[in-house]
Amino acid sequence: MPLLLGDRHQLLKSTLPEPLSSNRTDEPAGLKQDPAPRPRQPGRDATMDDMASSQHRISTRIGAITESATLAVDAKARALKAAGRPVIGFGVGEPDFPTPDYIVEAAQRACAVPRYQKYSPAAGLPELREAIAVKTARDSGYEVTPGQVVVTNGGKQAVYEAFATLIDPGDEVLMPAPYWTTYPEAIGLAGGTPVPVMTDETSGYLTSVADLERHRTDRTKVLLFVSPSNPTGAVYPPELVAEIGHWAAEHGLWVITDEIYEHLVYGDARFTSIAVAAPELADRVVVLNGVAKTYAMTGWRVGWMIAPPDVAKAAADLQSHLTSNVCNVAQAAALTAVSGDLSAVARMREAFDRRRLLMTGMLNEIPGVVCPLPDGAFYCYPSVKEVVGKELAGRRPANTTELAELVLDEVDVAVVPGEAFGTPGYFRLSCALGDADLEEGVTRLGKLLAQAR
Ligand SMILES: Cc1ncc(COP(=O)(O)O)c(C=O)c1O
Repeated sequence: MPLLLGDRHQLLKSTLPEPLSSNRTDEPAGLKQDPAPRPRQPGRDATMDDMASSQHRISTRIGAITESATLAVDAKARALKAAGRPVIGFGVGEPDFPTPDYIVEAAQRACAVPRYQKYSPAAGLPELREAIAVKTARDSGYEVTPGQVVVTNGGKQAVYEAFATLIDPGDEVLMPAPYWTTYPEAIGLAGGTPVPVMTDETSGYLTSVADLERHRTDRTKVLLFVSPSNPTGAVYPPELVAEIGHWAAEHGLWVITDEIYEHLVYGDARFTSIAVAAPELADRVVVLNGVAKTYAMTGWRVGWMIAPPDVAKAAADLQSHLTSNVCNVAQAAALTAVSGDLSAVARMREAFDRRRLLMTGMLNEIPGVVCPLPDGAFYCYPSVKEVVGKELAGRRPANTTELAELVLDEVDVAVVPGEAFGTPGYFRLSCALGDADLEEGVTRLGKLLAQAR
């Protein structure tokens, strides 16, 4: 399954004028490569594809979007499993716990409330916006008004609306890599240029002010800041969060910060909101969040953005034409979730903590694999660079996309290749599966990779 994030970057870079001035010295290697060929859709032949492109059936903007790699890996793993293969899937980014009963029951009650059966305000139910403001002050210390909150169809829609609301064509967004696969698509769709700032396992996948500064140009409008990180699980220490926040404020940048994993931190790591660590950002910071990861509510599709009032209003206006309100029953469930205590996430955190230790330990025992211990979220992000290019099971995978395919074919283990996150040479493995499956899956992976020559 080719993963083509380079496509959009290449397209955007080639259609945009060069920055007016640039102090950038190193272009990320991933963006310089020739774009890989676009995968042919199942059921389409070459003639159909050629006709489609010559007649512009699909717009250039939408045609440049690639399928979510993480969802694609999960779909493939599920299909193979349904066909009887003993697949163990490390692809999916969702807790393997059910939504707590008291939240489900609140939704059941909400179905019978006449008000919830009708359209409601596009920006969200007033009681939920209020509860999110209260919850945000409780959990991160960031004080906001309900008017700054826009309730969205999952955190993903908040990501899209934040970039759509802030970005003009040609604006650049600094995006520490590895990055979550959706960000460059959302930036590109808004007409912006994602500018990856590379990190690797040697720094624990943390960027620095010096690296960010080297990539800043006159066109830089936004810094995307994500801690804890998907895909690496990296958590920025409070002093570095503050340093980066002060730097962004000093240069008049906006910060879009994704806090969806705020409650999933382990050991001595502490979650720090950049909006609190650098309060001078208040007029130029957008916080993204949602109930999916904290309350095992991925299918309910409730997220939100918190922005300065003018930005929140503009995003709500966009949403009023895009989707109108989020499903009221799901909003009622989210209201119960964010108004309640954090005991459900505490139980999940305990399980993820145990599994990240187990998984990291096992991965580091595989020859050629190096995996920093993730301090947050529920992913391990090992380097498998040593294995790429070697002979394995009669094949010689040239990149991690090919290696991931080989792993699935040979030992029925599904992982997401690093190409999906802007950093070839890595795998992302989710810890959000049962302990026994986790152990069995990493054992299979280890036995296979140990044969690389
Ligand atoms: C970093 C990050 N942000 C946002 C989201 C969006 O979550 P959802 O749309 O399920 O609320 C995800 C989901 O995987 C994520 O990993």
